[in-house]
Amino acid sequence: MEEEARVKKGSRVCVTGAGGFVASWLVKLLISHGYHVHATVRDPCDNKNSHLKKLENASENLQLFKADLLDYDSILAAAAGCEGVFHVASPVPTTKVPNPEAQLISPAVTGTQNVLKACSALRVKRVVVVSSVVAVTLNPHWPKGKVMDEECWSDPEHCRMTENWYYLAKTLAEADALKYAKENDLDVVTVCPSMVLGPLFQPTANFSTLFLINILKGLRESKENRLYHIVDVRDVADALLLVYEKPEASRRYICASHPIKIREVIDTLRSVYPNYSYLNNLTEVDYDHLMTSEKLKKLGWKCRPLKETLINSVESYKEEWYCTHFWKKTKRNQEESGRKKEKSGRKKERVEGKRVD
Ligand SMILES: NC(=O)c1ccc[n+]([C@@H]2O[C@H](COP(=O)([O-])OP(=O)(O)OC[C@H]3O[C@@H](n4cnc5c(N)ncnc54)[C@H](OP(=O)(O)O)[C@@H]3O)[C@@H](O)[C@H]2O)c1
Repeated sequence: MEEEARVKKGSRVCVTGAGGFVASWLVKLLISHGYHVHATVRDPCDNKNSHLKKLENASENLQLFKADLLDYDSILAAAAGCEGVFHVASPVPTTKVPNPEAQLISPAVTGTQNVLKACSALRVKRVVVVSSVVAVTLNPHWPKGKVMDEECWSDPEHCRMTENWYYLAKTLAEADALKYAKENDLDVVTVCPSMVLGPLFQPTANFSTLFLINILKGLRESKENRLYHIVDVRDVADALLLVYEKPEASRRYICASHPIKIREVIDTLRSVYPNYSYLNNLTEVDYDHLMTSEKLKKLGWKCRPLKETLINSVESYKEEWYCTHFWKKTKRNQEESGRKKEKSGRKKERVEGKRVD
């Protein structure tokens, strides 16, 4: 009973990086569960955060705070009065970054430390830190073929050597967070989502959304037919709330639902949307890793079917302004390719002497 009283459902909580893909769904979920949310954004006036104010009950249950992860005081002010903090913010690069130390590692590592220090100072009851499976999978010492679980950590040296800077940033940030928790008696739980897809309602596309859009558009010339563990953004939000509310939640949770190869993703999408260009020239690879979310499932986590996630994603892209150009262009390409096919068909028929008009 005493344990149950640790965090109060429906109390005041803070979410960092609230305008992002994952955090937007989390804020929506928290408000729908009656929580009062302190949402940090770097620029409250930027249109990319405007969707937050449109959430149901936002006028009563949502407050925006201007905060940067590298500015301790701004984090302290945003988390003041909160029982719980969800630290979601982190740079997630969509292209190669010229200065990984300043652009990725420092905001992830020092930023997480700032959040945790503020939580200690404010006696926050539980902190949920969003890490990533990139902090799990880059481990050359893990036995080949063994399913990866929460015991597996990416090797920082290997990340450095292979210049996987985002992997390095997330690995260091998560490891530091759990170390800080132990040394400072702060209740910290980390969640490591895999590739997050699903509908978005913010007006900008994040890394994983672009990943799916690129598959639909067939943008890259070639890609490895790798195994991804795809998880729905709404299921990630559920997982974050679950580990926050369950008293017995502790340390680290992998949040990865459907292992699937890119080719199967394409086949699934093609069965519903036959007319997009899609990625082809997939090259086969043999270094896939399997992961398990058993620990999270034991806590009560459930996830929706992958096909639902993929369809809901594509449908939401059609609605968003940033994809207007893409869909128009795709439609134009389809019309053009239709016209070309028709023309070459007419030519063929003339050659074969079949055409009568
Ligand atoms: N998407 C995935 O597939 C995936 C998978 C596993 C883990 N994750 C983790 O999930 C979290 C959210 O990812 P996402 O996909 O939702 O990314 P996102 O949409 O790009 O959101 C990232 C958020 O972090 C904020 N941020 C970045 N640097 C900051 C700084 N210095 N100070 C304050 N805020 C800062 C961004 O604010 P601005 O809008 O101001 O830039 C943005 O709101 C991240 O921790 C990421 O590592 C994502």
